[in-house]
Amino acid sequence: MNQRAYSPNSWLEMGRLGAITGGLACLLLIMTAGCPLPTDTLPPTDGMVSYGRDVQAIFDAKCVSCHQPTGFAALTGIPLDLRAEESFASLTDGASVQRSDLPFVVAGDPEASFLFDKVDTGSPIVGSQMPIGASLTDAEREIIRQWIADGAMDN
Ligand code: HEC
Repeated sequence: MNQRAYSPNSWLEMGRLGAITGGLACLLLIMTAGCPLPTDTLPPTDGMVSYGRDVQAIFDAKCVSCHQPTGFAALTGIPLDLRAEESFASLTDGASVQRSDLPFVVAGDPEASFLFDKVDTGSPIVGSQMPIGASLTDAEREIIRQWIADGAMDN
């Protein structure tokens, strides 16, 4: 799969370059994941979200500083490791310390997923809203929600 064709930057550029270039890019996209409307210059959050590309990018930027073995969360007794090589297993096989009765991720059901509860707006059922000391944009929150709703795949 051509990762570059999906980066938010190239989607924005596509909008600037206009319909002809967009049409060409569209032909390339047909070969991978379908063709967006020419006017659609947003990242494809309404299509299939990629865990490795989209969700991990959020973890890298806003979570990994604390959620790694020597990070603040680990030092407070929360081993959840969100580094690229560990995060999928942590979230799908690992158990929550705060709510061991709740899975981090219930494939297809964001509302039942403790991970989403921790990043969603409003108070989480336990502890602080993540990320502590920062915040997710609505688009980032939607990417996590959509990934879970799509079946929480390692894609
Ligand atoms: C500044 C450090 C910090 C950052 C950044 C941070 N966390 Fe946390 N996280 C913690 C701490 C400390 C706890 C436990 C206390 C709490 O929940 O208030 C925690 C708890 C959690 C838990 C519950 C873990 C369990 O085992 O029950 C989840 C899920 C979580 N964080 C996800 C995230 C996600 C996703 C991000 C990024 C969007 C993030 N965190 C960013 C420090 C952080």
